[in-house]
Amino acid sequence: MKNTLYMLASEEFPQMNSFIITTADGKVIVIDGGWRADAAKLLSRLREITGKEIPHVDAWFHSHAHADHTEAFMEIMENHSESVTVGAVYFHFPSVQYFEKYEAGSAYTVREFYELLPRFADKACIVSEGDRYEVGEAVFDILYTADPAFRMNAVNNSSTVFRMTLGGKRVLFLGDLGIEAGQKLLSQYGDALKSDWCQMAHHGQSGVERDVYEAIAPEGCLWSTPKWLWDNDAGKGFNTHIWQTVTVRGWMDEIGAKRHLVTKDGDQVLEF
Ligand SMILES: [Fe+2]
Repeated sequence: MKNTLYMLASEEFPQMNSFIITTADGKVIVIDGGWRADAAKLLSRLREITGKEIPHVDAWFHSHAHADHTEAFMEIMENHSESVTVGAVYFHFPSVQYFEKYEAGSAYTVREFYELLPRFADKACIVSEGDRYEVGEAVFDILYTADPAFRMNAVNNSSTVFRMTLGGKRVLFLGDLGIEAGQKLLSQYGDALKSDWCQMAHHGQSGVERDVYEAIAPEGCLWSTPKWLWDNDAGKGFNTHIWQTVTVRGWMDEIGAKRHLVTKDGDQVLEF
């Protein structure tokens, strides 16, 4: 295997977030995974990429407990646990009580996650800011974890932000981070956020503000963004809906990002 990042496109219409990363020294990492409907494809891509009927995932990182990120993992833990082995599961989610209080409509996801926890409790690792995890050649630095003081956009703002360093490149994963947490991240790190690649917050719209991307100043952007969202089009044409993707695309061009990998074009592959 090589140092490679695969960004998977959704099997269905909605946005989702799913990455497989392989390292030249043979490690396999998954980030998020998408909806329940994306689980079968994720398993099939893992078999293809590893060449193994029962692939081993050394590290599975979760950004936050929204269904478009964690459901595929839960589907696999619940119904396909014989199809894959997992070394460690990294996450930092607020409590069920926090979800119920500040975003009750999303509480079912984190409740299901914790209900399934006994199936992977010996592999669970609750991450903290400042942690560093080495998965073969890939180094993961945890830059940000949920601040319960944020009650606006509560679950997106609870995203864990981490930076992967692999093959001399730094890839920043913002999850679905929102404005408030983005500003806290910026105040903590400033220009130290500089990275080569950036996973665009919240599928490229209504995520962090422009000044956060200015500090990151990526040469390339990873957009887990289907075509309707990329074009801000829910059926009435280009840039006719409420999403801010087209604005954010403009920011990134002005900031100087040269490469854009977008799941609207199908699964994306980036070698380091
Ligand atoms: Fe999302």
